[in-house]
Amino acid sequence: MEKLKGKKHLDDMVPSEIVKALDEYVIGQDDAKRTIAVAIRNRVRRKRLPEDVREEITPKNILMIGSTGVGKTEIARRIAKLADAPFIKVEATKYTEVGYVGRDVESMVRDLMGASLQMVREEMAQSKKEEVDRRVEDRLLDLILPAVDKSSGTDVAASNTREQFREMLRKGVFDNREVEMPQSMKQNFGFELMGSSSNMEDLQQALGSLGSMFSNQGRPKMRKISVKRAREIIEEEEMDKVVDPDKAVDEAKERAEEMGIIFIDEIDKVASRGNSSNSDVSREGVQRDILPIVEGTKVSTKWGVIDTTNILFIAAGAFSFAKPSDLIPELQGRFPLRVELHDLGAEDFYRILTEPQNAITKQYSALLSTEGVSVTFTDEALHEIASIAYEVNQTNDNIGARRLYTVMEKLLEELSFSANELNGQQVDITKDYVRQRLSGIVEDQDLSNYIL
Ligand SMILES: Nc1ncnc2c1ncn2[C@@H]1O[C@H](COP(=O)(O)OP(=O)(O)OP(=O)(O)O)[C@@H](O)[C@H]1O
Ligand SMILES: [Mg+2]
Repeated sequence: MEKLKGKKHLDDMVPSEIVKALDEYVIGQDDAKRTIAVAIRNRVRRKRLPEDVREEITPKNILMIGSTGVGKTEIARRIAKLADAPFIKVEATKYTEVGYVGRDVESMVRDLMGASLQMVREEMAQSKKEEVDRRVEDRLLDLILPAVDKSSGTDVAASNTREQFREMLRKGVFDNREVEMPQSMKQNFGFELMGSSSNMEDLQQALGSLGSMFSNQGRPKMRKISVKRAREIIEEEEMDKVVDPDKAVDEAKERAEEMGIIFIDEIDKVASRGNSSNSDVSREGVQRDILPIVEGTKVSTKWGVIDTTNILFIAAGAFSFAKPSDLIPELQGRFPLRVELHDLGAEDFYRILTEPQNAITKQYSALLSTEGVSVTFTDEALHEIASIAYEVNQTNDNIGARRLYTVMEKLLEELSFSANELNGQQVDITKDYVRQRLSGIVEDQDLSNYIL
C-alpha cells in the first residue's frame, strides 16, 4: 500500500499512540479509547499472519454505549481523521428494510468503497504532484504566451523568455488575465463519464451538451475564462491523467475490504422493545438486513464486488430506552466488544472547555479576535462555567457536553453582539462576569429550561 507522506500511518501506530492521539480531542472515556485502539491494532496484527491463520480471524466489532453528548460520535469522528483507513459514519435510522422505499443497508458498503477510492486517488495524485504542477504550468503558458506575442511582439519562443514567464505565472501575475480554452467534456457534463453514472437523465443531459460543445464547423467551441479558473480545470484534467483508474480501484477495494471502518450511529433507535408494533417490525427488518453485512457478505458495487468479512463495524447508541439486549440476538452476538462511556462531571467539563485543540473557549476567542477584540477567560471563570453546565444538566435534561455550548452561547451573547464596538479592547471573562450573566437564569428553573 502506498503511504501518505508526513503523516503517521494508522498501521504503524500502537494502541497507546492511538489513545494519545484521541486524547488531544476527547476528554476521558479511556475505556472506549483503549478498546477501539486495540480493535484497530488487531487488524494490523492479523494482516501479518499467514493467510490460512488470518482467514480464521475476523475483526471483533464494537458496541459503544453511553448517554447523549458524552463523546461517542466525537471519538468516531476523530478516528476517521486519524485513520487513513477508509471510514464512514452512518445513522442506523436512515435505512429502511429492503423492499421498502428508502436507502438499503448495502449502500453503506458502497459508500465506504467510494470513500476509499477518493482517498486513494488523492494519495496517488499527491505522489506525482511535481509532475502535475509542471504540466499544468506548461499548458497554461501555451495559452498565455500566444496572446502576449500578438500584443507586444515579444519573441516568446525563446526558452529563457518562457522561463521568465513561468516565474511570473508562479507569482500570480496573470491570475486576472483571460485566456481562451476549448470547452472541456468535464465542464460540460458536470460529472465524469467513466464509471460514474448510469442514470438516464445524466446521460441525456450529457448528450445534449455534447452537441453544444462544438461549433457549426465541427471545431470545439472556445470560451474565455480567467487564468485562475483555467488553472483549476487543467489541474483536474492532469490529475486524472496520472491516476490510473484501474490501479486506483484495485487499491481502494483492498483497503476498503481489509482496513475499512463503518461507524453505525444511533443503533439503539432500531432496537425494539417488548411486543412489536408495526414500526418495530420494520426496525427489526433493518437489523436483519444489517446482520449479513456485519457477518461478512459480498456486496456488488459499480466498482466490483466488495467482501465485508474484514470490515470493522463500530456501533453506538445512548440506549436510554432500549437496551443492547433489545437488539435481535444474532446482531448482539456480532458486537462482542462492549464499551461504556461515562457521564461527564464538572471537572470533565472544565477540561473540555480548555484542553482539546479545538476547545470551544479557543473557538470563541478566535471568532472575536477577527473583530479586534481579545477575549481571555480566567481559570475561576472556566470552573464556574463548567459547574453551571453540570448543574443545569442535573436539573434539566442531561445533554452531556452539549450543555457547554448553550451555556457559552448565553454567556457571550452580549459580547458577540457588540464586538465590533469593542475593537482594540481586551475583555477578561471573570467569575463575576459569569455569575452576573448566568446566575439569574440558572436559579429560575423555568427560564433555564428555555434558555440554557
Ligand atoms: N469526552 C468529550 N471530550 C471532548 N468533547 C466532548 C466529549 N464528549 C462530548 N464532547 C463534545 O460534545 C459534543 C457532542 O458529543 P458527541 O457528538 O460525541 O455526543 P454523542 O455521545 O455522540 O451523543 P448522541 O448520543 O446524542 O449522539 C461534541 O461537540 C463534542 O465535541
Ligand atoms: Mg452521536
